[in-house]
Formats: sequence, C-alpha cells, structure tokens
Amino acid sequence: MHKTYSSSSLGPGGLDLSQAFFRPIHNTAPPSSTNRQAKITVVGAGNVGMAIAQTVLTQDLVDEIALIDAKPEKLRGEMLDLQHAAAFLPRTTILASSSDYAITSGSNLIVITAGARQIPGESRLNLLHRNVALFRSIIPELAKHSPDAILMVVSNPVDILTYVAWKISGFPSNRVIGSGTNLDSSRFRFLLADHLEVNAQDVQAYVVGEHGDSSVALWSSISVGGVPILSFLERQQIPYEEEMLENIHRTVVEGAYEVINLKGYTSWAIGYSVASLARTLLRDQRRIHPVSVLAKGFYGIDGGDVFLSLPAQLGRGGVVGVTNVHLTDEEVQRLRASAETILELQSQLGL
Ligand SMILES: NC(=O)c1ccc[n+]([C@@H]2O[C@H](COP(=O)([O-])OP(=O)(O)OC[C@H]3O[C@@H](n4cnc5c(N)ncnc54)[C@H](O)[C@@H]3O)[C@@H](O)[C@H]2O)c1
Repeated sequence: MHKTYSSSSLGPGGLDLSQAFFRPIHNTAPPSSTNRQAKITVVGAGNVGMAIAQTVLTQDLVDEIALIDAKPEKLRGEMLDLQHAAAFLPRTTILASSSDYAITSGSNLIVITAGARQIPGESRLNLLHRNVALFRSIIPELAKHSPDAILMVVSNPVDILTYVAWKISGFPSNRVIGSGTNLDSSRFRFLLADHLEVNAQDVQAYVVGEHGDSSVALWSSISVGGVPILSFLERQQIPYEEEMLENIHRTVVEGAYEVINLKGYTSWAIGYSVASLARTLLRDQRRIHPVSVLAKGFYGIDGGDVFLSLPAQLGRGGVVGVTNVHLTDEEVQRLRASAETILELQSQLGL
C-alpha cells in the first residue's frame, strides 16, 4: 500500500540545507530530555477527522499530528493541503500513512473517527458489527505503538464503540474516553445563550447519558454567569413550562440530524469539541467536560460495564474523576434506561 510521509528535504536528490544554513553556537549540548513534546494521532481523515486535525493545528495544541486513513490518495491530499498552510500556522509536523502505524508512535492522545458508513437498509446491529471488526484491526496497532496514550473515540455509536476500544486495547478505564455529550452540551449551551442573548461561554449546562437520541438534559445544572436559572425563575415567580424545556432538548437532539440533512455530515462543531477536550487533556487543565466514561457504579448503574457521558474532570492522565452532580429521580431513571439499552446491544457483540 502507498505510504505518505511528511519530508523535511526537497525530495530524492533534493537540497538539504539544514546543516549549512545555521551554525551551532559554542558548546552546544543536545536538547534536554525534560522537553515536553505533544503528539496527537487522528484515525480517519474524513469530514470529522480533518475538522479535528485542522482545529488542533490552528490552536497550537501539539508538536506533531499523525493521520491514518484507509484511502491513501485522499489521505496524502489532506496531508499536503494542511502542510501547504504552514506559513500561516504554528510549526507542527504532519505525518500521514494508510498502513504504517509506526508513524503514530509515542502519541499522547489518539482520536478515532474511522467508521463504516451505514448501508441503506442495514440494521444498527450489523453496522455495529462492522465497526467492531474495524476497531479490532486498528486498536491493537495503535495500542502497540502508543501504550501510554489516551484513547478518545468519536466514531458512532460512540458510547458502545468506546467500550469496544476499552476492551480491545486493554487500557485502564481512565485512559479510554468517548467524546460523548460534550458536543450535545455545546449545542444546548448555544441554544440557551442564543435565547438569553449572552455569550455561550458564560452558560454552564450539561447534557449527559447516551450521545444522541436518549441523552438527558440536566435542567438543574443550568447557570448563567453563576446564577442557577431554574431556581432564579422560581424565586422571581417567573412561570415556565416543562414543555419549553423539553423543546430545547429536542432541538439539541435534532440538531445533528438537521445539519446532516442540510450539508451531509457534521464537522465544525465536533472539531472544536474534540480540540477543547484535547487541550484539557494535553495541557492538564483539569476542566470538567461531559464525556463518555466507564459509568458502572454511578447513579445505580450496575448491570455491567457500560460507557455513558457524565461530567468528568480531565487531565494529562485522562479521567481524574466524575463530578458528584445531583440528578432528579427521573434523570436517574433515563440514565439507567440508556445503560440497559446499551448493555443489551453490547451483549450481542461477543467481546
Ligand atoms: N461523537 C460525535 O459527537 C460525532 C459527531 C460527528 C460524527 N461522528 C461520527 O464520526 C465518524 C466519522 O464521520 P465522518 O463524517 O468523518 O465520516 P467519513 O466517512 O467522512 O470519514 C470516515 C473515514 O474513516 C476512514 N476509514 C474507514 N475505515 C478505516 C480503517 N480501517 N482505517 C483507517 N481509516 C478508515 C474512511 O476512509 C474515511 O475517510 C462517524 O462514525 C460519525 O457518525 C461522531
């Protein structure tokens, strides 16, 4: 299979001026081993993978990006296109290969966006089986070359595939994360901010549970500029309808479908969502993000190993812990129902 790499000289027989261009200063020592290099691998250079790669690049989060995709020509085109923007970007080495996983060696973070596409008429379970087969082929290679990395799964169905990645990799659960409802929560915050005409960054609000249809909006978690919204409305005796809240959540859930219907796929928001997770993880920011984590033991979820989104504190080692956030009885019920649906599907995977 054709390999594509980044190159620092101008090709075969080309000039290599790197030794002649600069003269070393007196008494030079090799770079200190305390220098920290950050490296990210993105598997799947499609719409989502490339949006993640370009956001990570523009935000200057890493020294090296490795791209892996099964389509060598498309991949080489994407690599060259990004490299050609070097004059406008922070200095970052970009590597790409369709078959040589050695280029991913020493990654701190591996983001998996590769996924089979649903064939018209195909069942969700069949698609899942194909994605499990895909993960069986890529995860051992990735784990072999970066045994200390954090694995982040973006491919859908993200919660189940995060479990699959955890099982196949053998990594500890704090180093396997699904991008989960970080994106759903951003859509939620945008809608609330738009409604209240404030900056979405000043809106705290969490969507937890399964990414997508059965996600759970935590109404009591909403605060704007530190003011908890629901208790504020109640204190001021401002009436609000449950239905209005449900409508906002429905708009969050339908948001992805709407974008896919209009442009064919989603990319920019998930790109920013994953870049924000990458920043927290790689820079040890200890921020709290709703991401898919091993949820067994939380909120009475005890039927088996299941990954669902909960507000989790993230740092350089992966998941530091899960925030002890209060859920109403109904929210807990919904979370458990999602867990049971996921466990039922997982039991048919033979892992
Ligand atoms: N979790 C989220 O919030 C979220 C949001 C958006 C999209 N997604 C999911 O992300 C995934 C990717 O979406 P997309 O729009 O980029 O799809 P896409 O088809 O554009 O990209 C997928 C890429 O994976 C590559 N690929 C397939 N098999 C591979 C293999 N064995 N090794 C390496 N590469 C392989 C394909 O060549 C393709 O380039 C989908 O599963 C989608 O549902 C998740």
